[in-house]
Amino acid sequence: MRHKRLFPFCLCITLLAMGACGSKTSTLDADEALDYCARQVERALEALQPRDYTMMPRNILAGDTLEGWRCREAIPQEWCSGFWPGVLWMAYDHTGDEALRTEAERYTASLAYMASRPAYDHDLGFIIINSFLKGYELTGDAHYREVALRAADTLATLCNPTVGTMLSWPRHVGDYGGHNTIMDNMINLELLFWAAENGGGSHLRDLAVAHAETTMQHHFRPDGSCYHVAVYDTLTGDFIKGVTHQGYSDESMWSRGQAWAIYGYTMVYRFTRDERFLNHACKVTDCYLQRLAATSDDNIPLWDMDDPRGTAAPKDASAAAIVASALIELAGYVEEADAQRYRTHAEHMLADLSTPYYQCGESGVAFLRHATGHHPAGSEIDASIIYADYYYIEALLRMKKLQK
Ligand code: GLY
Repeated sequence: MRHKRLFPFCLCITLLAMGACGSKTSTLDADEALDYCARQVERALEALQPRDYTMMPRNILAGDTLEGWRCREAIPQEWCSGFWPGVLWMAYDHTGDEALRTEAERYTASLAYMASRPAYDHDLGFIIINSFLKGYELTGDAHYREVALRAADTLATLCNPTVGTMLSWPRHVGDYGGHNTIMDNMINLELLFWAAENGGGSHLRDLAVAHAETTMQHHFRPDGSCYHVAVYDTLTGDFIKGVTHQGYSDESMWSRGQAWAIYGYTMVYRFTRDERFLNHACKVTDCYLQRLAATSDDNIPLWDMDDPRGTAAPKDASAAAIVASALIELAGYVEEADAQRYRTHAEHMLADLSTPYYQCGESGVAFLRHATGHHPAGSEIDASIIYADYYYIEALLRMKKLQK
């Protein structure tokens, strides 16, 4: 049992222990890194002229000489649409700058229409959580709550009760020969859990729990590593196979897929306080950390831990940022020794991401570089990608709260 029973007492001890421990804990100055993020956001906004609130920053590719982000239209097919508004909300959270809040509001507003359209796919969750939920957390604006609740109902239409999970990609049912659920989809359960606690029906929570349970049962190998895609028989609900879409091979560890699992099960525990999910979060985390140490020369993973090129393969800074953010939360749920271990890992990851090698600095307006999007498709390899920035600033804010 890893559940923390004496939370306040253990937290105090842990924080004291952290203060007394390892040299690497002093290498990250979360406030300084957040100030850097705020400066980059200002530079990015300056480059986004004339301002079109329906175009969302997505990437800066290796070799690009553009001044700003490459943008994509805010449509349901663009899964990254919510990350830029989320970055703006978090930059506002750090600085209190009302001009940033106004920009966050304007970009967020252009996503509202998606909440009441038929769901294109599970990414509706990513889009709404990162924009409307972040905005609701910071402002308490009733309109944000209303849009997020509507989006939760729309997202829930993807759930197949026979399988027990959401259909992640309706457009790919034929390609995979059945109901497909991807590990990334775990993140979107947050919208269902949140809605159930904020005026949506309790059935939304039941759907989210069923998804997390079914995924836990079929989507993982015995060592805690995950498949990217699980395919189920649509009619019987039977698990057919685990395959990859964005990883090196069906049996490899695609780093961001494992990162989604770590973040996802940590979040599921936040809402359920069910120890099965906490134990699973720890198991998938420990598997990731072990493979990371064996395959990488720093705390940032290769895009896929089984790429035979080893350390010559591209890295994925986004996976490191997702895991760092998750570990800071997970550390709040486990007993002292594990809590300290997870916080130290998160701090090392963020310290590495905050070096000139991973930060764009003057060379671009993003926070980070060396992220990899879809390697098998040859897309966004060794690039700046908006979701790497989103989880980096989220992790820094979480770290700053902890350091306080
Ligand atoms: N959700 C898509 C990705 O992680 O690339």
